[in-house]
Amino acid sequence: MKKIPTNSKSYWTEYVDRKEAPSYPQAVKDDETEIVVIGAGIVGVLSAYELAKRGRKVILLEADRILYGTTGHTTAKITAQHGLFYDELIQKHGEEAARLYYEANMNGLNYLRQIIEDEAIDCDFSEQTAYTYAVTDEYDEKIKTEFKAYEKLGIDGELLTELPLPFPIKSAVSMNGQAQFHPLKLLSNLLVSFVQMGGVIYEQSPVKDIKEDESGLHAILENGHQISGKNIIIATHYPFYDIKGLYFSRLHPIRSYIVAATVEEELPDGMYISADKPTRSLRYTEYDGKKLLLVGGESHKTGQSDDELSYLTALQTFTSDHFTVSDFPYRWSAQDLVTLDKLPYIGQYSSSNDCLFLATGFAKWGMSNGAAAARLLCDLVTNQENPYVELFSPSRSETNLQSASTFVKENANVAKEMIKGKVSPDQLELDELKPNEGGHVKFKGKRAGAYRDEDGSLCILDTTCTHLGCEVRWNSAERSWDCPCHGSRFDTTGEVIEGPAVESLKKLN
Ligand code: FES
Repeated sequence: MKKIPTNSKSYWTEYVDRKEAPSYPQAVKDDETEIVVIGAGIVGVLSAYELAKRGRKVILLEADRILYGTTGHTTAKITAQHGLFYDELIQKHGEEAARLYYEANMNGLNYLRQIIEDEAIDCDFSEQTAYTYAVTDEYDEKIKTEFKAYEKLGIDGELLTELPLPFPIKSAVSMNGQAQFHPLKLLSNLLVSFVQMGGVIYEQSPVKDIKEDESGLHAILENGHQISGKNIIIATHYPFYDIKGLYFSRLHPIRSYIVAATVEEELPDGMYISADKPTRSLRYTEYDGKKLLLVGGESHKTGQSDDELSYLTALQTFTSDHFTVSDFPYRWSAQDLVTLDKLPYIGQYSSSNDCLFLATGFAKWGMSNGAAAARLLCDLVTNQENPYVELFSPSRSETNLQSASTFVKENANVAKEMIKGKVSPDQLELDELKPNEGGHVKFKGKRAGAYRDEDGSLCILDTTCTHLGCEVRWNSAERSWDCPCHGSRFDTTGEVIEGPAVESLKKLN
């Protein structure tokens, strides 16, 4: 696999590298099965595993290497506490919907716990209390309002005024019985079980399109081959196939950051997140018999920042201000997708097709939502009842005032970015680029994107995004080209890292 040069390194994905995760073949001929699952992150792997357990024939396709995508760049908290969310949910969707959301996420957590027990997988799973805390008066009030929502919904939690953190807080709301784990230790073991149950995995097999005819659905691969099935599940984070769903107008991508620190202090149990902005999220993970502190936070719309490295620096400063740091051995960033009404889209891709399914839009809460999504998708595919079908239906009505205003705001932002990118004058001369630097340059009298690698070689690209034509921007933290419109990302050679784009950027040299 080609390594993308980057300023970031995820603790989770390094485990896969260290253990030299098994590689699976590329799809080099047509194949068929009952169910095709596209995308080997938490939703794809759990869906494939669960369907195989239910006796179904499944092929799992991954565009790159398995487990290197979004699931490898999380904070890996499995919790139904999603910051301050339940009061907002009650206001927007009503008490019953808020209760169902909590229950779906708790069921997702319990489903993961059950699998880990049944398969006897060592994945650093531990039960933890989740805390959302306030350090300002403004958010102190919000914490109290959130706790009232907990009381209404019967959520197991408490209102607190102290936490074992190295800075004072005004208040906090806790949620008991939550958990943390190492997601890739779990998923890599589940892939082994999946294959033992007869499942087939093809990696480095990007899907470019989906076709439908009387024989079923066909995932069309970049190399021209097709993998056919009665059902297809799209678990690619951003739904790359977007003909009828218009998902690109209903999802907006956000990037956020995580640093991992070895510190001298004894770290307390618990998973913490600030209600105040900028967000600060803290948890520890096992690290060679010691503890590694994970501090997450900061966020911005993908492709809409001039200095991505500054967010990592801000997290390192926060960590050093409150802990005695020996080292920052890892730091990475994540991309999350947020829907118009902040509830995920899980279910039938469109109301006119009951064989094509998707799950996306988990905001920053992909572990519990992802597990809930896998259960729901498997129930839909195998015609079993599931209480959360309507809550998460991608075809649900989002016509309330707040969703409509989010739709207008986000799409106006896309239109603004589309124009801004075309007129932006910031262009360097090619010889101004130092090794490992990228940016917009003048090339043959026109604007282009260039990256100079460590050896001095240049890769010059047309920076027109192959999704809908916005101008991609250089991301200094990840060394990638990111699109400010719908969040597609491309590596330094122009290859797609994240959709919705499926075509590479055009090379100019
Ligand atoms: Fe839509 Fe780039 S991701 S235009």
